[in-house]
Amino acid sequence: MYEDVDIRFDKVSVSYGTVKALDTITFDVKKQDFMGIIGPNGGGKSTLVKALLGLVELDAGKIYINPDKQVGYVPQFAEFDQSFPISVMEVVLSGLIKGKNYFFKKYSKEEVDFAYKMMSKLDITDLKYKQIGELSGGQLQKVLVARSLVSKPGILILDEPTASLDVKVKNEIYDILRKLSDDITILIITHDIAEIFTFVKSVAYISQTLHYHGNDSKMRKSVLELTTGCPIEDFMFSEEALKKDFMETEDKYHDTRHS
Ligand SMILES: Nc1ncnc2c1ncn2[C@@H]1O[C@H](COP(=O)(O)OP(=O)(O)O)[C@@H](O)[C@H]1O
Ligand SMILES: [Mg+2]
Repeated sequence: MYEDVDIRFDKVSVSYGTVKALDTITFDVKKQDFMGIIGPNGGGKSTLVKALLGLVELDAGKIYINPDKQVGYVPQFAEFDQSFPISVMEVVLSGLIKGKNYFFKKYSKEEVDFAYKMMSKLDITDLKYKQIGELSGGQLQKVLVARSLVSKPGILILDEPTASLDVKVKNEIYDILRKLSDDITILIITHDIAEIFTFVKSVAYISQTLHYHGNDSKMRKSVLELTTGCPIEDFMFSEEALKKDFMETEDKYHDTRHS
């Protein structure tokens, strides 16, 4: 419908009772964009994704999603019920299911082969018969990413896919996303501010309202100002200085978040 747009938020507001989570959010996600969504804890990032998936009701506004594209979703780790008695292979294949016929779906050979391909991409084929309750955090996260890919999404949405993972697994997941981003549109909610600047194409900073959205050369500066709360002079805006600042900011940011 819109030539170069996959997702459009048009004055979207969402509340939970009296809590206003999102207030008049307007922005576009262009085709083949790789957008990082950042902001403080409780800032409405997960709500934004849930609004996109139709999991929460809008108070106002409209959301457009390119009807030609399948949407893949990797939920925030804590929202996945790991006590459910189901194997890794079943979880991955469940990415193909829409609606309620959960246990009755028969998978074609092509579907199963493709699921294996995604699992091998994420290096989890050895885990296929394990129960999901037996997995470590990093393993489960990779299973959830594999699950989101089996439906061959044109749009992939991930809610903090690397939270609480060790650096090795984090980098493995980022590498896969980087490769995928050549072909599909990706939205990633993350707290890894330093890392995301090495691969995202645009950034949206959300704290109830949209404070910043852009992909220009000042992106790093704007985001640094938002995360530190300090204005950054233009003369400080050198790549080297910013890189150093980001490393430090990220630590502070994590501290605030967990306090
Ligand atoms: N199911 C819910 N019921 C009531 N309030 C909620 C619910 N989910 C989120 N909220 C509130 O909405 C706001 C935004 O939350 P959320 O979208 O989870 O933020 P983020 O993902 O950025 O941490 C917060 O104030 C949070 O407490
Ligand atoms: Mg969240």
